Amino acid sequence: MACIRRKMKTIVFLHVLSTVVWCAPPRCDPEDDFLGRFCKEPVPEKPKCMDIMMSYCDDMSYTHTMFPNILGHRTREEAELGPEYLLLSVADTLLNGQCMPDVRLLGCSVLVPRCEKEKMLKPCRSTCEAVRRSCQHAFEGIDMAWPYFLDCDRFFVSDQEGCYDPLEDLRVTQEEAQASLDFVPQDHHTVIQFSYHSNSQMNSLLKKTAARCPDISTTYSIGRSVEGKDLLVIEFSNNPGVHELLEPEIKYIGNMHGNEVLGRQLLIYLAQYLCSEYQLGNHRIQTLINTTRIHILPSMNPDGYELAAAEVQGANDHENEEASYYNSWTLGRGNAQNIDLNRNFPDLTNIAYSRRRHSRFRSDHIPIPDSYWFGKVAPETYAVMKWLRSIPFVLSANFHGGELVVSYPFDLSKHPQGQKMFSPTPDEQVFKQIARTYANAHATMSGNNSESCGNFGGQGGIVNGAQWYSIAGGMQDFNYLHTNCFEVTVELGCDKFPAEEELYTGWQDNKEALLTFMESVHRGIKGVVTDVDGNGIKGARISIKGVRHDITTAENGDYWRLITAGTHILTASAPGYTKAMKKVRLPARMQKAGRVDFVLQKAVDKPDLEEDFNIPSMGTYERFDPYNHYERYVSEQNQNREERLEKPWWWSYFSRAHGSSPTWLLRTD
Ligand SMILES: *[C@@H]1O[C@H](CO)[C@@H](O)[C@H](O)[C@H]1NC(C)=O
Ligand SMILES: *[C@@H]1O[C@H](CO)[C@@H](O)[C@H](O)[C@H]1NC(C)=O
Ligand SMILES: [Zn+2]
Repeated sequence: MACIRRKMKTIVFLHVLSTVVWCAPPRCDPEDDFLGRFCKEPVPEKPKCMDIMMSYCDDMSYTHTMFPNILGHRTREEAELGPEYLLLSVADTLLNGQCMPDVRLLGCSVLVPRCEKEKMLKPCRSTCEAVRRSCQHAFEGIDMAWPYFLDCDRFFVSDQEGCYDPLEDLRVTQEEAQASLDFVPQDHHTVIQFSYHSNSQMNSLLKKTAARCPDISTTYSIGRSVEGKDLLVIEFSNNPGVHELLEPEIKYIGNMHGNEVLGRQLLIYLAQYLCSEYQLGNHRIQTLINTTRIHILPSMNPDGYELAAAEVQGANDHENEEASYYNSWTLGRGNAQNIDLNRNFPDLTNIAYSRRRHSRFRSDHIPIPDSYWFGKVAPETYAVMKWLRSIPFVLSANFHGGELVVSYPFDLSKHPQGQKMFSPTPDEQVFKQIARTYANAHATMSGNNSESCGNFGGQGGIVNGAQWYSIAGGMQDFNYLHTNCFEVTVELGCDKFPAEEELYTGWQDNKEALLTFMESVHRGIKGVVTDVDGNGIKGARISIKGVRHDITTAENGDYWRLITAGTHILTASAPGYTKAMKKVRLPARMQKAGRVDFVLQKAVDKPDLEEDFNIPSMGTYERFDPYNHYERYVSEQNQNREERLEKPWWWSYFSRAHGSSPTWLLRTD
């Protein structure tokens, strides 16, 4: 046969692809001659229709096939031994049931193509393209390339060429199943599956969601966890991937403690909801997305989640544990190095406390002390810090579980021994308002609810972090003291790992709060600081008289300042420019942020050196990881792991004692 060269390992480049090209009878490629091989006419054979007899393909809509198949396998045995069939047999497991049986049936239509009247029929390109559109993300979710043999252009043909639809029967069955259900099926856009999602399911769902709403959504990774999992963000904006002048940016972070999981699920649902509702023309959602850039990181600690989920699963399997036990479990709270990420940020609050008596000290943009880098910095913490410094976030919420309350900075007590003590920031009034925005819009948080753990209803469902209990190195304090972002911590309920049946209720209770909170970023004031020629000034300071906390302008001179209603005196300043001052009155009920722009004149004399030499030097804000401590630390930790990481986790399914490994499954991008 012409295909013996399939076995010639020495010239295997693009092994599988080449097999296909060279073995597809009766073509004779010029390359064959180039490689010194002879191109024989295939031995005249009389292929006949035969029974399919391959277990993973036994539910096709037809019963007869023919060899050689579309890939050039000469016999059923050869097809069965190939990596293509192996993939089809494990795809259900690898993809967690996603896109099944569609992908499998599609693959079978190439591996055991339909045969009628001793003629082979080819599957339709349009079917292949539809499956690829909806399932490519499932493969991306597990870092697998789209299988070469499902290449729609190569192995599938058009209507005109007499194709058949290999998924035809499947569609009929699905429609029948739908029709037999009692309720009226909802528009498919709005169907959210209220279940838990594994890390790979989550990532693939986020990518799929972004693909469904490409005009308003995109995904990006801010880094990797200890075990190499992507920290995947889904973004919504009318111009995804770009900061627009004066458009405020907001972030939601879930699952920082891996065993606190409701927030993670809510954020996954929220992403789907935003995409669907925008497409359905929901005016409120369109307005929100048209005017806001929203970043959602459902899981900051995917490694911890995996541990926690496995433990809960184990308990469920034994069926002898009470659901309430979940709360006492802390497995998966930390990351894979067992670092509590909400204690792992630079403790700038202590610095703020130690310097607050200096009259010129301002509690913002405090540099990270070099000493921080000598400690253990988790890769998840590092990724989030870099993220915070790269985007001009205005507002943020960090979702936890175990209580039902919104806590706001400071988290570190000003009490010298760290005892519980009310420890407000200079923006106490603003933070209270932000916290109330969520709590009041939540179904039960601010009321006298019956939840056994809810001790905060009497105080409106909000609490100053340090008054509750003091922590150092928390994320919300870091946001406030190092960046322009105001972050609060939302505790979503008593149960850290609720039963799956409770996820829908959780969504109902929080949906309005999630939306209202995002909308509230359009409060206070915003504007642009420019020079006289209209060029934006980056890094100009916006100060409010009486509040020792400045906001700085972003790349193009735009800024956002969350403030409460009332009269405020604002100052804009920048090195090399004279100051400008404005008095503004902010009415109590404003639908959007008041616009206050500043034009700064070049200073004629020397720049106003505001250095107060009584304040000990703090280093500069620009210094981030100055000696590459973190990088070095990570590369040491990773030296062995790199080798393991080289191949994805599912590779072991395909590495066999002999025979070729399907390197076409590895992504090359
Ligand atoms: C949002 O923007 C899109 C695209 O520009 C536009 O079609 C839509 O009408 C806008 N919706 C609202 C409510 O502003
Ligand atoms: C909650 O209970 C307290 C005392 O029992 C009461 O003073 C308060 O008005 C109640 N608040 C709400 C929102 O029902
Ligand atoms: Zn927590």
